[in-house]
Amino acid sequence: MLKSLKVGLFAGALATATSLAGNALAQDAAAGEKVFKKCAACHAVGEGAKNKVGPQLNNVIGRTAGGVEGYKYSKPMIEAGGGGLIWEAETLAGYLANPRKFMKGTKMSFAGLKKEDDLANVIAYLATFSEGAEPAAEEPKAEETEQKSETPSGNSSVAAAPATLAKDAEVPSHGIFHLGRVALEEEITAWDIDVRPDGAGLPKGKGTVAQGDEIFAEQCAVCHGDFGEGKDRWPVLAGGQDTLTKERPEKTVGSYWPYLSTVYDYVRRTMPFGNARSLSDDEVYALTAYILYLNDVVTDEEFELSDSNFNEVRLPNEANFIVDNRTEETHYADKKEPCMKDCIAEPAKVTMRAAVLDVTPDSEEGEGGGSIE
Ligand code: HEC
Ligand code: HEC
Repeated sequence: MLKSLKVGLFAGALATATSLAGNALAQDAAAGEKVFKKCAACHAVGEGAKNKVGPQLNNVIGRTAGGVEGYKYSKPMIEAGGGGLIWEAETLAGYLANPRKFMKGTKMSFAGLKKEDDLANVIAYLATFSEGAEPAAEEPKAEETEQKSETPSGNSSVAAAPATLAKDAEVPSHGIFHLGRVALEEEITAWDIDVRPDGAGLPKGKGTVAQGDEIFAEQCAVCHGDFGEGKDRWPVLAGGQDTLTKERPEKTVGSYWPYLSTVYDYVRRTMPFGNARSLSDDEVYALTAYILYLNDVVTDEEFELSDSNFNEVRLPNEANFIVDNRTEETHYADKKEPCMKDCIAEPAKVTMRAAVLDVTPDSEEGEGGGSIE
């Protein structure tokens, strides 16, 4: 009697454990895809996924921690894998809720997902890229594979299919090596995205501070902080006014950058770090407006930045940049041969060494992770 009760209890416990794991998979993978935006800056998943700041996450469910070959993990991650840590619904939930609490010294520089739904959903999303993971009971296998193939990998979703595909473009048979072909219009357009200080090259579009705030919280704040204050050692994007003449000036968009066009161009070309060129032109306008707001250059949350008012915005430090007029200096203007030998009467004196100046801070093991190696 006692024995059968024990067995009953054990079976009950087992059932709860399995249904817990099953539950996580039955969560909403589509909602998880949205949550994954927070991860996409550092992790790729799907066909052809490569290691970025963090390892690629295909087949992560059932994988030993620290198990992607060719990715340079932190020591604690390798040790955890060696100690038998396997990524499954429960361990992932623990790690992703608070990475540094779960694994002291992990180099995943991510604050953690605070909402249980987000956790379960993102794990369900990862499960759709994991062969070993059991699909949710009500989800037929066929649908799962279909979902997989629909999920864009990397930037392929960004570039619209060009009218002529590069592989179909005409390759000349002339010349000795038969090399090269004329660049396609689409290829030039995709490459020619620079924006100049006078606004030349700006795409049509618009976005408000409030819209930028939302995108920033989702895709930028993990590194740059909610208010551009910079997490860990990631760059600071706001503040620093009045520090330019200090020993350690804080050079930000607000304190240092001369032209707003650089902000637009830089963000559009490179950010979010690890997932460059994934933002739409309107999103970049909104983010640029939000960065202006963080720097108190605009103060109205409803302010809308667009290609038509872009040139009206001036950054505070613009006047301190001067045109390079070296060619007008007598030395250049006279077109004299520059002095290359014994140019000063006294022997040269070393006044400071870079090591003493300490321009490059030491990196502490397991600190401020996410550096590219
Ligand atoms: C700022 C960059 C960054 C962000 C954002 C980030 N990660 Fe990571 N992640 C890393 C790095 C770096 C590692 C390697 C950690 C180590 O070696 O200690 C890692 C490791 C992992 C691992 C362990 C993989 C393995 O092979 O053992 C998982 C799982 C993971 N991340 C999932 C996520 C998920 C899911 C999110 C979003 C909710 C996320 N990460 C957000 C950088 C990031
Ligand atoms: C995974 C971390 C990460 C994420 C996410 C990220 N950035 Fe960055 N950001 C960086 C790093 C690293 C640099 C510096 C790159 C360099 O100097 O080569 C940088 C630089 C910048 C700069 C230039 C700062 C300066 O003063 O030099 C701006 C502006 C910027 N990011 C905006 C954004 C925006 C907007 C987003 C969101 C769409 C974003 N970043 C998302 C890591 C990140």
